[in-house]
Amino acid sequence: MRYILILLTGLLITLSAFAAEDIIIADFEGTDYGDWKVRGKAFGDGPVQGTLPGQMKVDGFEGKGLVNSFSGGDASRGTLTSPNFIIERKYINFLMGGGGWEDKTAMQLRVDGKVIHKAAGPNKNPGGSETLRWRSWDVSEFMGKDAQLRIVDDRTEGWGHINVDHIVQSDEKVTSEKQRDITVSKKLLNLPVRNNEPKTWMRLKQGDEILREFDIELAQDIDDVDFWVTLDLSEFQGETLQLWADNISKSSKGFELITQADTLIGGENLYAETYRPQVHFSPMRGWNNDPNGMMYYKGEYHLFFQHNPYGWNWGNMTWGHAVSKDLVHWEELGDALHPDEHGTMFSGSGVVDWNNTTGFQTGDEPPLICIFTYAGDNNLSSKDVEYTQGIAYSNDRGRTWTKYKGNPVQGHLAGRNRDPKVIWHTPTNQWVIVMYLDKKQLVFFTSPDLKTWTQTSILDSFYECPEMFELPVDGDADKMKWVLYGASGEYHVGEFDGKTFVPHGDVLPFNYGNCFYASQTFSDIPAADGRRIQMGWGRTGHPDMPFNQQMDFPVALRLETTPDGIRMLAEPVNELDLLHDGQPIVIEEEALIEGNTLTLEASELLDIRATIDIGTARTLDFNIRGLNITYDTDKHELKCKDNSAKVSPVDDELTLQIIVDRLSAEIFVNQGAIYMPMAHVFDPAKITLETKATGGDATIKSLFVHALKSAW
Ligand code: FRU
Repeated sequence: MRYILILLTGLLITLSAFAAEDIIIADFEGTDYGDWKVRGKAFGDGPVQGTLPGQMKVDGFEGKGLVNSFSGGDASRGTLTSPNFIIERKYINFLMGGGGWEDKTAMQLRVDGKVIHKAAGPNKNPGGSETLRWRSWDVSEFMGKDAQLRIVDDRTEGWGHINVDHIVQSDEKVTSEKQRDITVSKKLLNLPVRNNEPKTWMRLKQGDEILREFDIELAQDIDDVDFWVTLDLSEFQGETLQLWADNISKSSKGFELITQADTLIGGENLYAETYRPQVHFSPMRGWNNDPNGMMYYKGEYHLFFQHNPYGWNWGNMTWGHAVSKDLVHWEELGDALHPDEHGTMFSGSGVVDWNNTTGFQTGDEPPLICIFTYAGDNNLSSKDVEYTQGIAYSNDRGRTWTKYKGNPVQGHLAGRNRDPKVIWHTPTNQWVIVMYLDKKQLVFFTSPDLKTWTQTSILDSFYECPEMFELPVDGDADKMKWVLYGASGEYHVGEFDGKTFVPHGDVLPFNYGNCFYASQTFSDIPAADGRRIQMGWGRTGHPDMPFNQQMDFPVALRLETTPDGIRMLAEPVNELDLLHDGQPIVIEEEALIEGNTLTLEASELLDIRATIDIGTARTLDFNIRGLNITYDTDKHELKCKDNSAKVSPVDDELTLQIIVDRLSAEIFVNQGAIYMPMAHVFDPAKITLETKATGGDATIKSLFVHALKSAW
């Protein structure tokens, strides 16, 4: 009896090891779409035999026919909807190519009327490829359910079509896992990226230990590569590691293209790319958002930043790191903090621990400390982990970083609590931490050593990325006030006793631009300097570049008494002068007669400073290399693109400073009373500046146009 049971169990195991046969949902080999319902023109009357007139060569499909929504070109729209079917296998595999918009050029899988999967092609930019690639959806949790596929073409511009073929239910995923050993002999691992490819999860491992984990839009072939990114291998020299990937299309050669080298592949043109900001920091490769951990120590400004080292878009949050001796020339040192099993590395701050309160000091130098958020929900190995806070330290002036073994130092409180900003509070002789809690609330803590935090108060106030510091009013050290602000820069002036922030009056606007977020100020700037220097995330970029976004130009903050009350003003740091190139164009006491335009041939990178007597003019119009800025002298309003700010002339005069780079123009009015950082893609060929007055005459009291050198 026992024997028979064992035999039966064996038979069952053997049977279940054989995957059930694939079920073809559609192979599009017929002359029409059969039971599928067509709407609109894009999908024609039936499957297409490959390429349509005016289309790049379509390949990679199976058999003779495929769905190709290029009927009527990119302009046509439509949908193609399958009959209902039952999900009977773990995966749906299919071939896909075309436009890369998940809401406009995509295939959707619906279960119970709800879209549960979407997939788009790999292309968003001109160029690209019409090759179809294998994709897989895991549908195991919907087994037995009634489902429907809808292929959508709702885009009329470039890459406004979608190609699909050979949709199959299968117990086997058509994308695969891959792994290989690498013995580290070079400094960098180079990985090929193609924007909008489906994401592949990758790990660098040593046995069971995960050293790095990230997702990447891996190029599938050498001809597809948009740019290469790197993973620093220097700490693993001589070791044998495993490179692992999941979700790679069977036809992809991307994994095999990953290679060790001492330099960045394709980096010959580094920092000289057509749209590389020249007077602003941007990462060598990949995406940046918030500045993090900003601190000054022994002649170096440390700028960390939210970095996706492996892609053009946000993701894989890692702390990138750069240093500068003068706030304008930056050297990128490589990533300092990497995602781990607690989560990816979200924003936070940095301080010098002069008194070794943390006990991390090993040599003669005080340890540098970074305080950050573990974002639990963003990583493959930490999918369901809550957001917590951690610390890391460096004993070698920020060159290497170690995460504290006792992390997280602060557990989860609410929602996606994040972005701890730490300051040393001298009167109470302890650390103070302000952090975003949830629902526009900030939470305050005190700590003796940054390892144990005690919650002191909660304030209804701002969203994300709080910052807090004390500043003299009108430069008077006897009149100190506290400033507290959130990610958009809106701020409170108030009092702070080390535990509770008490705002005076309403929230005040700070910046008027479209290119500023999540700013921070440097900690530990020596008292002899005394400046409070801020940098924001400059939200600007260009799709053809191997990097995305930049930092705003550093500004010095001050509090001034105005007729409306105490206000925070921002002006670019004087170090900007270090980039002045040769003699400026100078114009003094020149009338701007209505109808005449003052035209100057300048250059690409500029620091423009002007004082204008508005006279009888109704508007002043400036055209800066194609970017229009207008001042309405009746409404006292400055406008640039969709942004505007109210600012009155002082004794009839308006003072302007404009820093012009390749992807931005930062506008400052009346010594920082208005700060308007603007994202703008300047045409490299346009170098003309125009100024005119309308409705009356004005006078240029002074105009200095300084050409700027590249900071790289
Ligand atoms: C602000 C922000 C932060 C967060 C980080 C993640 O831009 O959302 O709140 O820590 O970006 O990159």
